[in-house]
Amino acid sequence: MAIEQTFSIIKPNAMKKNAIGDIVSMFEANGLKIAAAKITVLTADKAGEFYAEHKARPFFGELVSFMTSGPVMLMCLQGEGAVLKNREIMGATDPKKANAGTIRSKFGDNVGENAVHGSDSVESAARELALFFEKHEICNV
Ligand code: PPS
Repeated sequence: MAIEQTFSIIKPNAMKKNAIGDIVSMFEANGLKIAAAKITVLTADKAGEFYAEHKARPFFGELVSFMTSGPVMLMCLQGEGAVLKNREIMGATDPKKANAGTIRSKFGDNVGENAVHGSDSVESAARELALFFEKHEICNV
């Protein structure tokens, strides 16, 4: 399988739970490497741009408000089939439906406050990574 890079966010609710170490350990235990990382508080403009495809959905305002409510950790994850592997490690969007042992089943609170974001395709990953990282900030690990 090809080596890919994907974009990951540890969301504000998981940051409040002090779960960075646990979440990163789950990525590493499953063969993903951290190729870039930064902790920041998103602006409403940046969060809105990031979630632009959901602009017309009723929860858009709530989603932007939550994602700007506290620090997040932005990462580039690298490894074989990283996009799909990350989605498997995260579990379903709704933590109630996520398989036991996944990040969202452990640290998610509800469908919005679901602990982590992960790109849904190689194309999305490229767009999302470019929104938050300069090319030189991503290492080939
Ligand atoms: S998916 O996996 O993209 O098909 O999921 P989807 O249901 O389309 O959700 C897209 C993102 O919107 C968030 N979301 C919500 N936020 C607040 N309130 C409600 N009701 C809600 N429903 C969905 C969800 O957490 C997804 O965020 P990301 O960061 O992509 O996981």
